Amino acid sequence: MSLTHYRALGRSGLVVSPLSLGTMTFGPGDWGVDEAGSRAIFDAYRDAGGNVVDTADIYTGGISEEFVGRFIKDTGSRDEIVLATKFGFNGSRSPLASNQGGAGNPHAGGAGSKNIHRALDASLRRLGTDYIDLYWMHIWDGVTPVEEIVQTLGDLVRAGKIRHYGFSDMPAWFAMKAATIATERRVPGPIAMQVEYSLVARDVEAEHGPAAREGGMGIMPWSPLAGGFLTGKYRRDDTSGTGRLSGANPFGDSKFSDRNWAILAVLNAVAAEQDRPPAQVALAWVMAQRGVASTLVGARTVAQLRDNIAATEVALTPDQIRRLDQVSAPEGGFSANLTALPIRRMIYGGHAVTGWTE
Ligand SMILES: NC(=O)c1ccc[n+]([C@@H]2O[C@H](COP(=O)([O-])OP(=O)(O)OC[C@H]3O[C@@H](n4cnc5c(N)ncnc54)[C@H](OP(=O)(O)O)[C@@H]3O)[C@@H](O)[C@H]2O)c1
Repeated sequence: MSLTHYRALGRSGLVVSPLSLGTMTFGPGDWGVDEAGSRAIFDAYRDAGGNVVDTADIYTGGISEEFVGRFIKDTGSRDEIVLATKFGFNGSRSPLASNQGGAGNPHAGGAGSKNIHRALDASLRRLGTDYIDLYWMHIWDGVTPVEEIVQTLGDLVRAGKIRHYGFSDMPAWFAMKAATIATERRVPGPIAMQVEYSLVARDVEAEHGPAAREGGMGIMPWSPLAGGFLTGKYRRDDTSGTGRLSGANPFGDSKFSDRNWAILAVLNAVAAEQDRPPAQVALAWVMAQRGVASTLVGARTVAQLRDNIAATEVALTPDQIRRLDQVSAPEGGFSANLTALPIRRMIYGGHAVTGWTE
């Protein structure tokens, strides 16, 4: 496989590489990359045949979008690139807007029609383009009716301002309801879902996986390396490492759990057998999961990106996949247990009948 093994994203004609370029690191910040470094990452991704660039209106306060817009313009690649961006988090400039309440404009966030139009116009301006290929609702706001969101995004597709849309960080029922409403009302529907999915984050398999298949949505995993944890650069006896999870940060502690160290141990063993870095094996595992159309890779350097792109060459053996599956298996839970084999046999007179999307 390579980045030019394009495939359709969900039930659509949008053709994407198996790895998409995440640009959350483009711009200033503790884990950020300056403009020259970001440009080098963008160029390396394109040189390898990659065609999906994913940003968001809130990444580095809009600078990520500005960088991406400039890189696309300078390379004359607008027609080749699947340009994806997101709305949803509050865009008020007030430092209090995001999480302390009170000072921000409530109409500068969420999935209400008013904010979607505001956010899209601002993104188009920063990106220097007049259309978005894949417009993501970044996060479920828990408030706006699904009908309003589908109507607004469907109208934007019809107006040509966006070509397609998808949902990130939402309950599975929400995406499924949106897909159903869209079909019934003959409004353009969602084609993809963007969710956290990796060897240490498999919760989405229970509800989101089946919803994606049933609703014709391709899955685009984010943080497939768990923010760097699955590169193996952090050790149980020394988590100082060098990267996003080292020192004081909002992510590290949650990644450094007993369960995750056990998963990393098996990953390291499989990586040694493959003579590949653990990051490549972790990415190969995600890419091989059912319903995954394109996996979002993030990088702080060109070397990291190249390392990650080489994951497309990794072929895991059935035994290696079994060991990785086993150590990282999510706890059953109510929905997952409903499809367990013994129950299926109880229903079908002892036969292990499989459904059409299984
Ligand atoms: N929808 C959402 O809510 C959401 C949330 C998060 C991300 N995303 C999207 O998903 C993309 C990827 O997410 P992510 O950045 O968290 O992905 P990730 O692949 O889990 O983590 C990427 C980070 O890991 C480290 N790394 C990557 N490759 C490495 C290598 N080969 N060797 C050593 N270290 C390596 C780098 O950080 P250090 O060098 O600093 O350690 C890099 O920035 C983002 O850019 C964004 O587009 C979406």
